[in-house]
Amino acid sequence: MEKVDEVLEKFRYAKEDLIQILLELQMLSGKNYLPQEWVEYVAKALDMPMNKVYGVMTFYGMFSTKPRGKNLIEVCKSGPCHVSGSQGIELMLEKELAIKPGETTDDGLFTLERSNCFGACDIAPAIKIGEKVYGNLTPDSLRAVIKSYREEA
Ligand code: FES
Repeated sequence: MEKVDEVLEKFRYAKEDLIQILLELQMLSGKNYLPQEWVEYVAKALDMPMNKVYGVMTFYGMFSTKPRGKNLIEVCKSGPCHVSGSQGIELMLEKELAIKPGETTDDGLFTLERSNCFGACDIAPAIKIGEKVYGNLTPDSLRAVIKSYREEA
């Protein structure tokens, strides 16, 4: 648990920094997730009940207990995006990445998920990659976005 200890020490075992601690650990995992044993270790080290830590993880949607790709792509499926063509966007992504929602590409670069509205309805159809939002998507702009992430890798 050396990695976990280092992060806990960096934040001086401060309970109020739990979210930052979890975010940093999720990044350190290399698979964009929080292994269960790490969560248990953190809960013990901060003297917090496990269900409190899991409660925080569930409340903030950016945490996962399952391994994910480096980049999480969320396709908004709520009303405005739906009527603006989110279905087509999802199909394009499935084809481009050769995965279905809930799956991760073999190279570990992308995980595809469906999501509810994240407030970008004025630029529907929209997707989120990590914390970045892309809207007014067309097949070409979507392909360009994916390409830029592949080139960055
Ligand atoms: S409906 Fe898609 S971002 Fe709001």
